[in-house]
Amino acid sequence: MSSEQHSNQGEQAPYGAPATDAPPVKKVRTHHLREWKQSGRRFTMLTSYDVFTARVFDEAGIDTLLVGDSAGNTVLGYSTTLPVTLEEMIMLARGVARGAKRALVIGDLPFGTYQASPEQAYHSAARLMKEAEVAAVKLEGGVEMAPQIQRLTQGGIPVCAHIGFTPQSEHTLGGYRVQGRGDAAERILRDAHAVQEAGAFAVVMEMVPGDVAARVTKELEIPTIGIGGGNQTDGQVLVWQDAFGLNDGRTPRFVKKYADLHGVLLGAAQEYAADVASGAFPGPEHTF
Ligand code: KIV
Repeated sequence: MSSEQHSNQGEQAPYGAPATDAPPVKKVRTHHLREWKQSGRRFTMLTSYDVFTARVFDEAGIDTLLVGDSAGNTVLGYSTTLPVTLEEMIMLARGVARGAKRALVIGDLPFGTYQASPEQAYHSAARLMKEAEVAAVKLEGGVEMAPQIQRLTQGGIPVCAHIGFTPQSEHTLGGYRVQGRGDAAERILRDAHAVQEAGAFAVVMEMVPGDVAARVTKELEIPTIGIGGGNQTDGQVLVWQDAFGLNDGRTPRFVKKYADLHGVLLGAAQEYAADVASGAFPGPEHTF
């Protein structure tokens, strides 16, 4: 076993404390997430859909990059994720996989490419891994997706599950709603245990009450990644255009806005337009 594989194993640091004497991880693998859960090192995930953001987030030390089918909203401008195709995901994921040197890159399986059967899931996931070179796939669903998760993991494809609010089921769930309130918490727990049992290496929990997400995190051996699930999950994920303000529209309550990229880009584009109009650009230094 390499020193990389040993990193953080078995440490019992206080929750959220940085790893102590563990060497830095050069390439994040699925086993690191589980080791970080055990040691209490919280980890990070951001969405990414292209090579430049992948490079920046990788340089920033973001642990995992998710090529989410949220690309349907954030890249392609659809109002839901439902129209996204496997081909679109493969194209976007190729750039991210090339841009990330350290981060674990996970590709989303889009709606209609895995729900029909475990075999359909396997063929879709294998394409994503072969054609985009992602290290793992993510799919939405709990108990009902256990056969798919089992088929993929037994076939050598690491799976991150996604439970709670699952955007591909928006029409079944009746819109963007918190899942797992009151008695429905038991359903979240059943889903969480089912995906762990089926072999998932991690589980995303979206829009779940903080106390339910905390209970799931405590009960599971695999790491949990929260988005709108409070601060007791093992990792956190945000959609980057929401978190860094490229999206200047409404964002959900669980999003913290760390930058105003809409404002930065708008200002830069306006300055460029003014320079061209005035003849200030291109100057002699930009001219051959
Ligand atoms: O598609 C996506 O970006 C996601 C995250 C919101 C977890 O599933």
